[in-house]
Amino acid sequence: MASAPADENRRWWKEAVVYQIYPRSFNDSNGDGVGDIPGIIEKADYLADLGVDCVWLNPVYESPNADNGYDISDYRAIMDEFGSMSDWKALRDALHERDIRLIMDLVVNHSSDEHAWFVNSRSSKDAEKRDYYWWREGRDPEGTDLDPDDYDTPDGVEEVPPNNWESFFGGPAWAYDDQTGEWYLHLFDRKQPDLNWRNEDVRNDVFEMMEWWLDRGIDGFRMDVINLISKPDGLPDADPANDIATIDRAVNGPRVHEYLGEMRDRVLDEDLLTVGEMVGDEMPLETARRYVTPGPEGDGLSMIFHFEHMLLDEGDEVWETVEWELPELKAVFDRWQAGLAEEGWNSLYLNNHDQPRMVSRFGDDDQYHRESAKLLATLLHTLRGTPYIYQGEELGMTNYPFESLDEVRDVATLNPIQNAIREGEIDSFEDVKDAVRAKSRDNARTPMQWNDADHAGFTDGDPWIPVNPNKDHINVEDVRDDPDSVWHYYRELIDLRSERDVVVYGDYEPLTPDHESLWVYTRTLETDDGRDTLLVVLNFASDETAFDPPADLAGRAADVLVSNYDTDVDAVEVDILRPWEARVYDLG
Ligand code: NOJ
Repeated sequence: MASAPADENRRWWKEAVVYQIYPRSFNDSNGDGVGDIPGIIEKADYLADLGVDCVWLNPVYESPNADNGYDISDYRAIMDEFGSMSDWKALRDALHERDIRLIMDLVVNHSSDEHAWFVNSRSSKDAEKRDYYWWREGRDPEGTDLDPDDYDTPDGVEEVPPNNWESFFGGPAWAYDDQTGEWYLHLFDRKQPDLNWRNEDVRNDVFEMMEWWLDRGIDGFRMDVINLISKPDGLPDADPANDIATIDRAVNGPRVHEYLGEMRDRVLDEDLLTVGEMVGDEMPLETARRYVTPGPEGDGLSMIFHFEHMLLDEGDEVWETVEWELPELKAVFDRWQAGLAEEGWNSLYLNNHDQPRMVSRFGDDDQYHRESAKLLATLLHTLRGTPYIYQGEELGMTNYPFESLDEVRDVATLNPIQNAIREGEIDSFEDVKDAVRAKSRDNARTPMQWNDADHAGFTDGDPWIPVNPNKDHINVEDVRDDPDSVWHYYRELIDLRSERDVVVYGDYEPLTPDHESLWVYTRTLETDDGRDTLLVVLNFASDETAFDPPADLAGRAADVLVSNYDTDVDAVEVDILRPWEARVYDLG
């Protein structure tokens, strides 16, 4: 049984609630339609009022924006659209003055093709930085399964790339480059060439850059697709039967722990929040533990973002969705809660800038919008791990009703659709509209809804991406005025976390793994004052559901500490739960 930790074993990042800011869509201070850093500073009090402890800022570095800042052309400069380095410093100070820490996005699997390293690298085969990226000769199509017509090469070049890997954004993972007649690897967009981590100079440059940011007072890093940095020797072909998992060849590659170990020893320490984004299908827990165990046995990351719950509704094509069942979702969380119970730590998220809105995906964003948004919040804030709130989640922001491709901005949505239209697999946007509404990353990227004015108070100009029309009834001004809103409920949950160690450090025990609509669990912690136990009961359904408590808890006196319905319950008893009802019982 877990006990309340001694002071030296506490970690601020375990006790924290993190708030993710996607700057482009948060708040625009200068009317150009794009959110910016001064705009975030204007909202620093808002963040303090909500009670969050840390901000994760999506990339704000100089970038041509092929992938909204995940294509960095200068790691030590701020993108003009977002402001200046002095604005960034003012933001850091504004947050720190309010006891809010700041972690930055670290995007070092790839850079922009406009980064000085790549500009040099592509200039000639003997360029100083040639080996900073993955350059290879093409192959004769003879003897491969690849068709030269599938690749974009100039007339007269009848080659196929060095292997059959596909980009995560659709299409090949290799681009032919005229300047030297060779191909370079890009696991994402062609404007995002992969850095070659086998080259020690690349690693040194990356580590120096990280130190440079730490010297400027940041509190950690969110590490973009960090388990892709090691590519296997010889870059072997992948099994074409996989979908984009052809890239599985690059997931958790052979030297990834060596590189992260070097980073841990040279740059990191345990007081920083370091969260590694780990792409791929199911990850062995052994591997996960290695990433999040302190050194020297492990790589020393604080936690990781895995994707298993994000894959439950994934079909074969980007625009396909399949139904998910609650027992599957519970099984994913139960596996990770148990897997990292002794070693390591979990991150807790149900949406971010790459995923649709959680209330639309896992809740009922129509009839039970408020109830289901609160239930999902209850889950994220009462599991064991660090909760991440994605901007607007605290209002219950929803997916966007896309009507045409003109409203879509995201390269990962546009590329595959445009390819499919070109290749005749689909006729038009209409064929994939429902899926775009359900799954596109742009659902998360519509502007933060501050009020019901034009453009939701996000900008005085033309927003770079359309505002959700439901800003008329889902917006910050309204939720702050309404004591029963989703926003105030988040505040309660955040307060509960800081008041009760059991929420942070308690053991998790699932009680209803197979139930089709109930998710019931306990959290238990030994403290100096005895055992502290919470019972969490969640009805994941738009119907009523009977709750039959386990025999050892039935009849126990208990207050309900938090609930999304009025309730006068004072014991754990057989009951009918209302649609999307969530209760946190205090069993003392
Ligand atoms: C993951 C990021 O979260 C996503 O937004 C980006 O497109 C890819 N990595 C590539 O950097």
